[in-house]
Amino acid sequence: MLLFYATRDGQSRRIAERIAARLADRGIDAPSRDLADAFPVPADFAAAPLVAVVAAVRYGRHLPEAERLLATYRELLARAPLVFVSVNLAARKSGKDTVAGNQYLRKLLARHRLKPALATAVAGRIDYPRYRWRDRQMIRLIMMMTGGPTDPQTCVEFTAWPAVDAIAARIADLHGCAGNRSENPDSRPA
Ligand SMILES: Cc1cc2nc3c(=O)[nH]c(=O)nc-3n(C[C@H](O)[C@H](O)[C@H](O)COP(=O)(O)O)c2cc1C
Repeated sequence: MLLFYATRDGQSRRIAERIAARLADRGIDAPSRDLADAFPVPADFAAAPLVAVVAAVRYGRHLPEAERLLATYRELLARAPLVFVSVNLAARKSGKDTVAGNQYLRKLLARHRLKPALATAVAGRIDYPRYRWRDRQMIRLIMMMTGGPTDPQTCVEFTAWPAVDAIAARIADLHGCAGNRSENPDSRPA
């Protein structure tokens, strides 16, 4: 199966690597690949039983390479079931991990007119000292409005690793189903 990530600060890579490790525990070989380094060709989609993407949100949008992957997936009318994991800070709040509850996920899937077999959001990380001044101020402002940390020295990981493990388990189940059927209606374009 194909497992991609789109990241700028590394948290989506860590999440994708954790999913890859849990899948490996179940005997599924799915090394995580950076979409910025290796964008798949159409033949990759045709051969894969499942396509999974872990992608970060910046300023309200998922990273461009993740948007491009979804556009390509749809253009190719790929048959492989799709899994999309959005990484953002809104998801640190209860109920914001679903398509209905997470505006980034909801808008992205509506824009691409896709209905993945699994779509979910996972909380990312804040690392203020690492950010450029403008980004730091913007994220602090968003955190001030949403009740999060604003101390410019803050470095905090919100990612719930048990939730990531649960996502990996669901991917493993989908992978098993995909291997057992020739067509996968679950994630056809909506
Ligand atoms: C410049 C910048 C903009 C961000 N914009 C948003 C945003 O609009 N909404 C949100 O929920 N999180 C936002 N975040 C938080 C990121 O989604 C979070 O830090 C995530 O862990 C980043 O993933 P990455 O480490 O894989 O790049 C932003 C972070 C940065 C640095």
